[in-house]
Amino acid sequence: MKAPFLLLILFSFSVQILSAQQDIEKRVESLLSQMTLEEKIGQLQQGWLNSPNYEEGIRDGKFGSFLNSGDIETKTRLQKIAVEESRLGIPLIFGRDVIHGYRTVLPIPLGLSATWNLDLVQQGCGVAAFEASQQGIHWTFAPMMDIARDARWGRIAESPGEDPYLVSRMGEAMIKGFQGEDLSSDKTIAACAKHFVGYGAAEGGRDYNTTLIPENELRNIYLPSFKAAKDAGVVTYMSAFNDLNGIPATGNKFVLREILRNEWGFNGFVVSDWASVTEMIEHGYVKDKAGAAQRAIEAGVDMEMVTTAYAHELANLIEDGKVDMKYIDEAVKNILRVKFALGLFDNPFRELKGENALLTDESLETARKAARESFVLLKNEGILPFKKDFEKIAIIGPLANSGNDQNGTWAPDGRGEDAVTPLMALKEKFGDKIIYSEGLEKSRSTDNDFTEAVKTAQQADAVILCLGEEEIISGEAKSRAFLNLPGNQTNLVKAIAETGKPIAIVIMAGRPLTFSEEAKLADAVLYAWHPGTMGGPALIDVLFGDYSPSGKLPVTFPRTVGQIPFYYNHRNTGRPATNVENVDIPLGTPLDPKGFVSNYLDVPFSPAYPFGYGLSYAEFNYDNLQISSDKIGPEDKIIVTCDVTNKSDITADEVVQLYIRDLVGSVTRPVKELKGFQKLIFQPGETKTVEFVVGPNELAFYNYENKLTVEPGEFHLWVGPNSAEGLQTSFAVE
Ligand code: GLC
Repeated sequence: MKAPFLLLILFSFSVQILSAQQDIEKRVESLLSQMTLEEKIGQLQQGWLNSPNYEEGIRDGKFGSFLNSGDIETKTRLQKIAVEESRLGIPLIFGRDVIHGYRTVLPIPLGLSATWNLDLVQQGCGVAAFEASQQGIHWTFAPMMDIARDARWGRIAESPGEDPYLVSRMGEAMIKGFQGEDLSSDKTIAACAKHFVGYGAAEGGRDYNTTLIPENELRNIYLPSFKAAKDAGVVTYMSAFNDLNGIPATGNKFVLREILRNEWGFNGFVVSDWASVTEMIEHGYVKDKAGAAQRAIEAGVDMEMVTTAYAHELANLIEDGKVDMKYIDEAVKNILRVKFALGLFDNPFRELKGENALLTDESLETARKAARESFVLLKNEGILPFKKDFEKIAIIGPLANSGNDQNGTWAPDGRGEDAVTPLMALKEKFGDKIIYSEGLEKSRSTDNDFTEAVKTAQQADAVILCLGEEEIISGEAKSRAFLNLPGNQTNLVKAIAETGKPIAIVIMAGRPLTFSEEAKLADAVLYAWHPGTMGGPALIDVLFGDYSPSGKLPVTFPRTVGQIPFYYNHRNTGRPATNVENVDIPLGTPLDPKGFVSNYLDVPFSPAYPFGYGLSYAEFNYDNLQISSDKIGPEDKIIVTCDVTNKSDITADEVVQLYIRDLVGSVTRPVKELKGFQKLIFQPGETKTVEFVVGPNELAFYNYENKLTVEPGEFHLWVGPNSAEGLQTSFAVE
C-alpha cells in the first residue's frame, strides 16, 4: 500500500477518534449543565446490594455505580430504575472483580505472568471480558499492577510480579484483553489499574501496612507499570489502602493529581478502594467523614466505593465554601466520560447471553493453554516427561482433587465443581492406571498417619505429589509470616520418599513458598501456581510431554523467608554479598574468614530460584551475542542479536530475556534490569537469531533530580534464559 494512501487512512482514523472524543465531551458538558448538586454527588457514589434503600436512591439519582450487583435480572432492574425513573436517566456502571476470569477461571495473575506470553494473556482476559460483559458487567477491578517483592504478602498472587518491565507489559496485555478495541462493544469491559500506588511495598509483607517509598523509588519501580496502563488506554484507576509516606494513597494529591492527572494527562476516573475514603479516619489522617470527603475529592478520587462520606458530607462542604465546586464537576465529568465511552447512554440494555456465554470449549481451551504455559519446571532429574505406557501412577496430596483450591484467590464467579482437577484429568485419560490417595485432606491438615498414601505409592511406578496452599490462605488479608508448605505436607513428602519411588512434586500456591528440603526428596518439581478451571488437563499436557514447560518465574524464590525482601533488581551496596555456599563461621574462629560483606551467616546470598528461571524438556544454547555499536549517543539505539538453538529433538518454547546494568548513575542503579523478552517456539534443532532494540526507552531512568534521562557511562548487557545466566557484552553511552 502506498505511503501517502496509508497516511490518509491513518489521518482519517485519528480524525474519527478525535471527533468521537469531541462528541463525548460535548455530551458530558451538556449533561453536567443540567445536573443539580445532589445529582452530581450521586454520580460519585458506588453502592452495593447492602446499601440502604438503594432502589429509592437510584430513583433519586444518588448512585452512579454498583459493584457486586447480583445476577442479570437484578442489574437490569437497577438499570431500568436509573434510566427510566430517575430525572436525568443517567445509567449505572456495574463493576466486579473479574481478576483472572469470570466463570472460566484462568491461572492467578502471578501464574499468567509466569507464561511471559503477552498474546495469550491478552486472549485470556478477552475471554474474561466476554463472559463478564454477557452477564451485564461493564467494568472489572483489574489488572492489579502492584510491584510485589514480598511473598509474605498474600496479594502477590494477584500481581504480575516483582519487575517493573514485566508487570508493565503484562498490564498492557490485560488491559487490551479486557477493553479490546471498542469499549462500547458487548464483548469488552472497562479495566481498572490498581492499587494506585505502592500497595505491594507493605512493611513486613503485612497487608494494608505502611509503605515508605522515596519519590525516586516510586518513579523508577512502582509507578512505571501504572504509566504503562495509562498509555495502554486504561479508563479507570483504583486508589490504594496504604499510607504512602505519611499520606494515605486515597488522599494523596501528589500521586493522584500531580502525577496521574498533570504529568500523565489521565482523563478517565479514579474509584477508591473498599472504604479506603473513610479509612483515612482510622489512618489518623482526618478526624471525621467530612475531612475524609474533603481530602479524597481534592486529592482526585472521583468515586467512593460503598462508604458514604461523599454522599453525606460533600454538599455541606460545598455550601460552607470548604470544597471548591470544580472538584465535583471534574469528578462527574470523568465518570460520565467513561460511561459515554462504554456506550451506556446509547445502549444501557444490551442483549445478554448470560449462562450461554460461559465455559465454552474455546474459552476452556484458552484457559488450558494459559495454565500449561504458566507452569514453571524448577527441577527435573530425568523422570519428566512421564512415558505414557506406564503400569500405574499414584497421585497423592491435598491439591490433587480440590477444584476450589486450584481456582485460587479472587475467583468469586468461578466454581470449584467446574474445575478439572489433576485426579479427574488423569482418570479421564488413563483410567485405572491411576491410583489415588489424598494423604492430607487440606494443605493445613496436621494428620500424621500416611499409611494409606504410602500403600498407594508402593503400588505405583511413580508418584505425582500435589502440594501447596489452599486458596483460602492466599490473596487479600492473607499475609503469612512463614513460607513453608503449610500443615504436615513436609512429613507426607518424607513418608512417600521412603518408598523409593520416583516423585514429581507439583506445587499449587498463590505465592513463592520455601521447599528446599522437599525438593531434595523429589526427582522433579513443577510450580503450578493456582492454575484455574483447566489446571488438571494442563498438568497432563506437561507431565506427559505433550507440551514442554516454558514458564519462567515472575518473582524471585527465596531459600528462606528470612531473606525477604529479596528481588533480583537490587542495588549493589558498597560491600556486595558474595555467592559463597558455605557462609558460616567455623567454631573457634575468632574472625569472619569471609570478610565484612553483606552476607547472612546462616544462608547463602543466592535465591532458591532466580527471577526469570524455568527449565524446559528441551536444551537451549545461546551463542554469538552481537551489538550493532559499543558507543552510542543518549538518543541512539543499539540492535542486539543472539543465536538461540534448540539442541533437542522436541518442539519447545523458550523465553529469551534481555537485561542491562547501568554501572554508574546519579542515583545508584540496580545490578540488573529486565528490558526485553521474547517467547519463541523452536522446532527440533532450530536456531533463531533473536533481535532486540535497546535505546532511550530501555536506558532512561529517573535520575537524582527525578528527571527521566539517559545518563552517559558504561552499560553491561545480557541475553539469556533467566536473570542469573546469559551471554554478556557491554557498551557506552557518550
Ligand atoms: C477489595 C480490594 C480491591 C477490590 C475491591 C472490590 O478490598 O482491595 O482490589 O477490587 O475491594 O472488591
